Amino acid sequence: MTPSALAVEELAARSEDEVREHLAAGKLVEGLQHMSPDYLRGIRRILTVSADTELISAPAYLRAAQHAPALNNFGSAVSIIQDELAHAHIGYRLLGDLGVDTNELIYEREPAAFKYPYAFDVPLDSWSELVLANALYDQAGFVLLSDVHRSSTFGPWKRALAKVDKEETFHLRHGRTWVKKLCADADDKARLQASLDWMFILTLEWFGLPDDRKKHSEQLDYGFKGKSNDQLRQWWMSEVVPFMEEIGIDVPAHFDAELDRYVIDCPFPAQFDEEKREWLLDDGAIEWDDVVTRWRGRGPMNRDYVTTLQRGYQTTSLRRAA
Ligand SMILES: [Fe+2]
Ligand SMILES: [Fe+2]
Repeated sequence: MTPSALAVEELAARSEDEVREHLAAGKLVEGLQHMSPDYLRGIRRILTVSADTELISAPAYLRAAQHAPALNNFGSAVSIIQDELAHAHIGYRLLGDLGVDTNELIYEREPAAFKYPYAFDVPLDSWSELVLANALYDQAGFVLLSDVHRSSTFGPWKRALAKVDKEETFHLRHGRTWVKKLCADADDKARLQASLDWMFILTLEWFGLPDDRKKHSEQLDYGFKGKSNDQLRQWWMSEVVPFMEEIGIDVPAHFDAELDRYVIDCPFPAQFDEEKREWLLDDGAIEWDDVVTRWRGRGPMNRDYVTTLQRGYQTTSLRRAA
């Protein structure tokens, strides 16, 4: 019997009370021996989202990297892609330790079953979109992973994220340096603005449902992360909005001093035309249920990216013997 065929109840035998006592004593969870079924289900869920996000960013960034203005710029992009694959490996390796069949998870899963943010399903088609993704998407990754690094109760992941955090800082700096540089040219700046207009709102969605609609409360209760979705969205805006304002790129959000928080200045959430990569803001805000339906249906690049990643496994002798 493969480990994945074992029920979480067989793999993680501690009671919920025992886990809470362990955590209350200030100890980290180091493996299955410290987990309850709920803890195991929850940590598997958040690790899968994280690893899938890292993995899919590789083909997404590679597509755009091909527009690099010079070979050394292509080299920087490829080193970022290499980091992302290593980050994905950390997540999947930990999932393997938690009884998940990783070949099945990575190479045999249906593309639509991958759990990364919808933003990566929309193609990045130019060098300026790649560096803007470094400034927006890697900033989102940085915010989310710094929170996990600081707050996670799962020791092996917490320790591994020290390295990931430093690499994400490099991706972010790559993005910001390039975005600033492109802003010096009026045509490049106009192109950046046009890309930001769809990418900014997609990144706002990245943080998920607002706190009053969120389902997986164990993520906070069990200390898988420290901040709520809305707090993380605020944190991301507090990094991105001042930077964009400083370089003269318009963003549909601003800091409201009276409310002491960032406020989104356009209908949100909104309907997205994925073929044109445009928000239908004139139609006003929509329900989160409609957003969740779009996320579940996945976007234009989902099948392409996942089959690219799975192709080698499907066609070579690396495939696991039955
Ligand atoms: Fe990463
Ligand atoms: Fe990154």
